[in-house]
Amino acid sequence: MAELGIVKTGTPGLDEVFGIKGFKEKSSILVTGEPGAGKSILAMQFIYNGARLYGETGVFVTSEQSVEKVREVGRTLGMNFEPLEKKGLVRLMMVPVARGYEMAPEELMREVKKTEVKRVAIDSVSPFRYLSSDVKDFRIKVMNFIELLTKHDVTLLVTAEKMKTDFDSVEFAPIDFLFDGLILMGRLRKAVSFERVLTAIKMRGTSHSEELHPVRISDKGMVVETLKE
Ligand SMILES: Nc1ncnc2c1ncn2[C@@H]1O[C@H](COP(=O)(O)OP(=O)(O)OP(=O)(O)O)[C@@H](O)[C@H]1O
Ligand SMILES: [Mg+2]
Repeated sequence: MAELGIVKTGTPGLDEVFGIKGFKEKSSILVTGEPGAGKSILAMQFIYNGARLYGETGVFVTSEQSVEKVREVGRTLGMNFEPLEKKGLVRLMMVPVARGYEMAPEELMREVKKTEVKRVAIDSVSPFRYLSSDVKDFRIKVMNFIELLTKHDVTLLVTAEKMKTDFDSVEFAPIDFLFDGLILMGRLRKAVSFERVLTAIKMRGTSHSEELHPVRISDKGMVVETLKE
């Protein structure tokens, strides 16, 4: 069982990035970064390992991929969602933004009101931007959404797209300021290749590493390298 008040991240190595060795319970975390950085995998592992390793019920909301696609991608990364879904520990939910769905549809709120739901992941929040008339409206909607969910005692992990992740001059978006925690994922060029990296930009209420940590993805899932030899 996880320590009281701490929610384990579900990604090996990632807990070590934070002084409290995980996320603060009932906090909101935004994982932002470029395409292919690993945001969705991190969000999937948050829900999958939360249920499998810590017995914590989670809801994974996908705004762009189908639920079947999430199961399929999960399998290629060593995550078999189906047994956990059957046990009621995981709920995969598609919110088809293209059809004008709002950020907190009835279905999600019904699920969250079940007191045993500890974790919610939204992958990704970016498509909802197009439902808002402007940035201000979007920011207010995200703010209300965070408040609504964390009020129901869930730890919320949200992914968002970032167009530019040059680590020397990161351009932050208005919603980056709303969350308790901000994790940035991207790639660093190393001579003739790229390396995936992750860094914590902020985590209210705890210290965090200031380093760029290598991120490795394999058919066993994603690992963050934090331990120095
Ligand atoms: N089995 C695997 N082995 C190695 N790398 C893998 C494996 N499966 C997926 N990947 C890598 O993971 C990347 C996708 O990660 P993910 O879907 O989490 O990215 P993302 O940040 O969510 O991107 P987007 O913003 O486009 O949704 C792919 O580009 C792929 O290279
Ligand atoms: Mg993704």
